[in-house]
Amino acid sequence: MIATTFNTAKSEEIFAAAQKLMPGGVSSPVRAFKSVGGKPIVFDRVQGAYIWDVDGNQYIDYVGSWGPAICGHAHPDVISALHSALDKGTSFGAPSALENVLAQMVIDAVPSIEMVRFVNSGTEACMSVLRLMRAFTGRDKIIKFEGCYHGHADMFLVKAGSGVATLGLPDSPGVPKSTTTNTLTAPYNDLEAVKALFAEHPDQIAGVILEPVVGNSGFIPPDAGFLEGLRLITQENEALLVFDEVMTGFRIAYGGAQERFGITPDLTTLGKVIGGGLPVGAYGGRKDIMSLVAPAGPMYQAGTLSGNPLAMTAGIKTLELLQKSGTYEYLDKMTKKLIEGLLAIASETGHEACGGHISGMFGFFFTKGPVHSYEDAKKSDLAKFGRFHRGMLEHGVYLAPSQFEAGFTSIAHSEEDIEKTLAAAKAVMANL
Ligand SMILES: Cc1ncc(COP(=O)(O)O)c(C=O)c1O
Repeated sequence: MIATTFNTAKSEEIFAAAQKLMPGGVSSPVRAFKSVGGKPIVFDRVQGAYIWDVDGNQYIDYVGSWGPAICGHAHPDVISALHSALDKGTSFGAPSALENVLAQMVIDAVPSIEMVRFVNSGTEACMSVLRLMRAFTGRDKIIKFEGCYHGHADMFLVKAGSGVATLGLPDSPGVPKSTTTNTLTAPYNDLEAVKALFAEHPDQIAGVILEPVVGNSGFIPPDAGFLEGLRLITQENEALLVFDEVMTGFRIAYGGAQERFGITPDLTTLGKVIGGGLPVGAYGGRKDIMSLVAPAGPMYQAGTLSGNPLAMTAGIKTLELLQKSGTYEYLDKMTKKLIEGLLAIASETGHEACGGHISGMFGFFFTKGPVHSYEDAKKSDLAKFGRFHRGMLEHGVYLAPSQFEAGFTSIAHSEEDIEKTLAAAKAVMANL
């Protein structure tokens, strides 16, 4: 597809109508393309590694519904399992055997998880785990990192990444100061800053929560020793370590970042992949901590649709597919080819860029780097990223519409898809 024939008339019409119906025309902010400019395309259907928009344009997709589509969109096995599940009803609001199956799969896979509670989104998982951290320790303060996003609950909307970074919102209005005074922040990859916070607030910090590999200020891996250091500091201070693996869980390894890096936190949050494209989140961890959750214990948390049979079904089938041998090696191989290719093209065409990947998660910045923190990520040339994003769209490649978001591949992405993507990048970067 080339720029001159790129027709998005129907997308524009639908998006214009949406603006009158929903704030910004969307159900979630980053979808509105505010940080890259231009109008978003409106999807019609998805399959495998591809998206089709309402004008009939086809794209190779590197967003994957923001992470869940690790087996490719609408995998036939997932769809077929859902068809069978549908015949039994859409919601039970009561125990089902499906919950046991997915719970056991999660417990078997994720080193820190001995017990799990299902919720409906990553936001819910994180806000619930925060309550649990406080209930268990009897302390109110938490430490989070600049540029890490843990959903949109009040206590986390402090120096958050994702859409908050994309839209340049400082902290959201409507979040009372009293709520966020207990949220302490440190730069990512800065152990000294964490130590200083613990020294400043002795016996007051319930724990540290982080994305063990950041995806919400672009892709930022932990420096060597960072996760180990956090494990040690939290233990020394009798505080909890929580990995928010909503993005990295079942994505960078079957057992998530904790398996990949060999560091076991006390609690973990999950989302995205475990729902296989349906709304699911989860939090879990040590049995002694999880036993505080109602009705086993006094910490209240509930949900009408939690453990929904359709969502459990999609999650179970997705995890089964991921268990096939070679899955993560394949994701790694494809993603390596993609990111190395992009960086080589940037260099050949005279653009400063840096980036990386782990398994099926990747990112690159238009700055020479290296990027260890959100402060580093902010040095990127955002206007250039916006032009690159639009150019790639016109060449049939759908990238996350923000410099501050990671990208995702799937087992449906073929070598040919990557080659086509790199050919598009070459054409676009030559004219940026
Ligand atoms: C690391 C992380 N935590 C939490 C969330 C919030 O999840 P959700 O959008 O499902 O509420 C996200 C969403 O992108 C995320 O990436």
